[in-house]
Amino acid sequence: MLCTLSSSDRDLCSTTRESANEFCYANSRGIIFLIFFIIEAGMTDWITRWKEGKIGWHKNQPNSKLIEFIDCLELGENTRVFVPLCGKSVDMLYFLEKSFKVLGVELSELAVEQFFVENKLDFTMKKSDKFMVFSAKNIDIYCGDYFDLNAQILSQVSAVYDRGALIALPADLRVKYTQHLEVILPSNCRLLLLTLNYPQVQIDGPPFAVNQAEVEVLFKGFECQQLQCFDDIQNEPKFQEAGVEFLEKAAYYLCKDPYKG
Ligand SMILES: C[S@@+](CC[C@H](N)C(=O)[O-])C[C@H]1O[C@@H](n2cnc3c(N)ncnc32)[C@H](O)[C@@H]1O
Repeated sequence: MLCTLSSSDRDLCSTTRESANEFCYANSRGIIFLIFFIIEAGMTDWITRWKEGKIGWHKNQPNSKLIEFIDCLELGENTRVFVPLCGKSVDMLYFLEKSFKVLGVELSELAVEQFFVENKLDFTMKKSDKFMVFSAKNIDIYCGDYFDLNAQILSQVSAVYDRGALIALPADLRVKYTQHLEVILPSNCRLLLLTLNYPQVQIDGPPFAVNQAEVEVLFKGFECQQLQCFDDIQNEPKFQEAGVEFLEKAAYYLCKDPYKG
C-alpha cells in the first residue's frame, strides 16, 4: 500500500526528526562534557592531594626494584630517561647521580617545586606551550598534563621508568596512557614498569590493580617480559587491614619496536 503524507504530516515528521537530532546532539555534547568533567575531576584530586600532603606513595629512598633492574634499560652515556607522572620521586635523583639525564612530567606545580627545593637543585622555569618547564643540570620536569606531551618533546628519550604512573590511573585512563606512550616514544625505547596486583574488589585504588594479562594487552605493540612477581602482602599494612588476600609486586621489561640486529 502506498502511503502519502499530507503537508501537515510532513511538517510534523520533519519537526520530530529535527527534535530527535537536537536531542542526540544535546545528549552527545552532554556525554563529551561528562567525560571531560570526570578527567578534570581526576586531575583536581591529584592537585588537592599534593596541597594536603596526602602523598603516601612518596618514598625517601630510591626504589629497590629500580636498583635491581636498572641494567635492563641499557643506559649509556648521555641517556635521557623519561619518568611519567613523576611526583617528586627521588628515583629521578638516582638517575642523576648515575650521570643520566631525566625528563619528567608532573601535574602538580607544588610537587615539582618540592623536588628541586628538597634536593637543593638550583632551577630555572620557562613556559613552553601548555607546560611550565622546570630545569636544573641534566633534568627537565614538564609541569602539566602528560596527555599534552608530544613525540618532539620526547625525541631524545631512550628509556622510561614507570613507578606509580600506570597504576595511579583507572582502567579507561590506563588505555589512554599506554596508547599515548606508544605515540610519543621513539623506537627501540626500553621501559622498566613496576606494578601492583591484588583483588580489586577488596579495596579501591589508587593504586589500582594491574595484572600481567592487562600489561600484555595494554603494551601489545611492545616486546614484553615479566622480570619478577612476588606476593608482598606482609609488608603492606594498609592492604592487610582492609582484608586484602594478596598483593603481588611485579617488574616488567618492555621495548617499543626493538631494532632487530
Ligand atoms: C601515585 S603518584 C606517583 C609519583 C611518582 N611516580 C612516584 O613514584 O613517587 C602519581 C602522580 O601522577 C601525577 N599525575 C596524575 N595525573 C597526571 C597527568 N595527567 N599528568 C601529569 N601528572 C599526573 C600526580 O600528581 C601524582 O604526583
